[in-house]
Amino acid sequence: MLIRLAESKDVPVVMGIVARCVRDLLAQGIDQWDEVYPDEETLREDVQSGSLFVAEQEGKIVGAVALNDEQPEQYRAVPWRCHDDRALVVHRLCVDPDHQRHGIGRRIMEFAETQARRHGFRSIRLEVYPTAAAAVTLYVRLGYLRVGEVRFPRRRLAFDCMELLLPEKSGPSRAPEPKLLPATPPAGQGGMPAGGGG
Ligand SMILES: CC(C)(COP(=O)(O)OP(=O)(O)OC[C@H]1O[C@@H](n2cnc3c(N)ncnc32)[C@H](O)[C@@H]1OP(=O)(O)O)[C@@H](O)C(=O)NCCC(=O)NCCS
Repeated sequence: MLIRLAESKDVPVVMGIVARCVRDLLAQGIDQWDEVYPDEETLREDVQSGSLFVAEQEGKIVGAVALNDEQPEQYRAVPWRCHDDRALVVHRLCVDPDHQRHGIGRRIMEFAETQARRHGFRSIRLEVYPTAAAAVTLYVRLGYLRVGEVRFPRRRLAFDCMELLLPEKSGPSRAPEPKLLPATPPAGQGGMPAGGGG
């Protein structure tokens, strides 16, 4: 499986995956996402900022994720355990329902961890809808801990905030590579649209 930066031409394909995930989630009564969020404009902004990555298998896009350091303003009140407020944030993780349960989500999240370490982040932050069992189980199995909750407009339930600490690995030290990810806006000025979370 190849994970690469997304290009503009990939956006409709990723939007198709998102739409199929939304349909599946809603069929299970999970209203984490809907027809409003995640939307195409947000994905296009992700591409422009170099945040959107796609997972490809045999030339076909089967999953996607946005990785950046944009924290919704709701994160400010969360008791994160890592005191360095600069964190890699995972948004819009999705795997095509036809390809779920084959380890793709796990590999995308392992990729996120590698990216976080490469860029010198000491933690990864994300929010997940508590009823989205697949995602919650995935994150817990990867070692993420629930540290609090945040609310977004139009969502019945609060989202669980989850965090993975990235202790420095021993061995030869390497300077962080500040390229690729967009510049850090202070918490609260980041780019999460008001439409939703996850
Ligand atoms: C969450 C999601 C990305 C997982 O992707 P995936 O490729 O199916 O996950 P993986 O196959 O890598 O699963 C890894 C582990 O996660 C857990 N998991 C994944 N799907 C699960 C499910 N439906 N029920 C319970 N546990 C699940 C399991 O522990 C699994 O390991 P196992 O298969 O060895 O038991 C996918 O279900 C998805 O796109 N969901 C809709 C969108 C979404 O909720 N995104 C998250 C936003 S916060």
